Amino acid sequence: MQLIKTLAACALAAATAGGAQAADLKVGLVLPLSGPFAAYGAQIERGARLYIQEHGDTVAGRKVVLISKDDTGVAPAVSKRQAQNLLIQDKVDILAGFGLTPSAFAVAPLATETKTPMVVMNAATSSITTKSPYILRTSMTLPQVTAPIATWALANGIKTVYTVVADYGPGHDSEAQFKKTFTAGGGKIVGESRSPVSSPDFAPFLQRAKDAKPDAVFLFIPAGEQGVAFAKGFKERGLDKAGVKLIATGDLTDEDVLNAMGDSALGVYTSFHYSQAHDSPENKAYTAAYTKAYPDGNHRPNFMSVAGYDGMRLIYDTLKKTNGDASGDVFLAAAKGMSWVSPRGPVSIDPETRDIIQNVYVRKVERVDGVLQNVEFDKIPNVKDPGKE
Ligand code: PHB
Repeated sequence: MQLIKTLAACALAAATAGGAQAADLKVGLVLPLSGPFAAYGAQIERGARLYIQEHGDTVAGRKVVLISKDDTGVAPAVSKRQAQNLLIQDKVDILAGFGLTPSAFAVAPLATETKTPMVVMNAATSSITTKSPYILRTSMTLPQVTAPIATWALANGIKTVYTVVADYGPGHDSEAQFKKTFTAGGGKIVGESRSPVSSPDFAPFLQRAKDAKPDAVFLFIPAGEQGVAFAKGFKERGLDKAGVKLIATGDLTDEDVLNAMGDSALGVYTSFHYSQAHDSPENKAYTAAYTKAYPDGNHRPNFMSVAGYDGMRLIYDTLKKTNGDASGDVFLAAAKGMSWVSPRGPVSIDPETRDIIQNVYVRKVERVDGVLQNVEFDKIPNVKDPGKE
């Protein structure tokens, strides 16, 4: 209530001070820009800024201004405080970013209270979009990208699986969807473990998985360094030599860490919505523009950068439809059902859930021209979030 009053006072002050010129369109990004998940913030911001660079910094007569705030990672109280700062001090029109699920959960009530559009550009627990009617999502949901690898496993002689997931929202979603799809098709889960979200030690989980002698280990952990540790540990403990396959969502083999994984990534099968190696004219243009805009070579174009890029596209296309009106109800009505061709393939915003509908691809890590890539070999078209069925 207090927040609404403050914002109303600010809006009044802005209106009385205002001349003929349309006010800047301020987008406040809440992102991990420091700490163990800092790469998420860097990638999302790179994608968003690339879109603005390519399409101009004015839309529907309003100059677009991006303001980024660091929430440091898994720190919901910090995410909430930063969102409050953006709303009250910076007077942003739209909230965006959100690298991790706890951050999106913490800010959802503020979006509702202030009727501010909130564009989620990574956090991927299915239920996030149910936490506020002002949330839209341009990334993915874990059930959406998990079901296809379970189906692939069933069709490829994998009969028993040991699951390892990070112990929080997206991990729980992923575990539940994998079990559901895999057991419905006759597969058996022979063991399951949940690892801590921050600084996990995978050794005990790898040993338990090895002792269970499954055909495969299924894994979801948040993208980044953790995946490098897991993939290396998998080889070092000899699970691959024991004939155990490693299957996962594509978070594991994110392009940002593929080089660091090295040979331990070879032969890993994943399902996901984006690969740098996706073969389409839109993706060729995207990856070329990304590499040109960010020649430092510190990052490779990945799924987070694409979600930031597509998130800005959703904001631009929606504002064109509303003639620059970013007020929550008008903006959301215009955004629902929006469709476009992303670097990942065709996408649309589900008018019922406000989640993204997209193709999910099955991929295998291979060396292509000397570089490790997620090579897509199968496609499940137009997947809606199965987590809400
Ligand atoms: C999340 O916290 O929702 C999350 C983080 C990293 C991922 C996927 C989901 O790779």
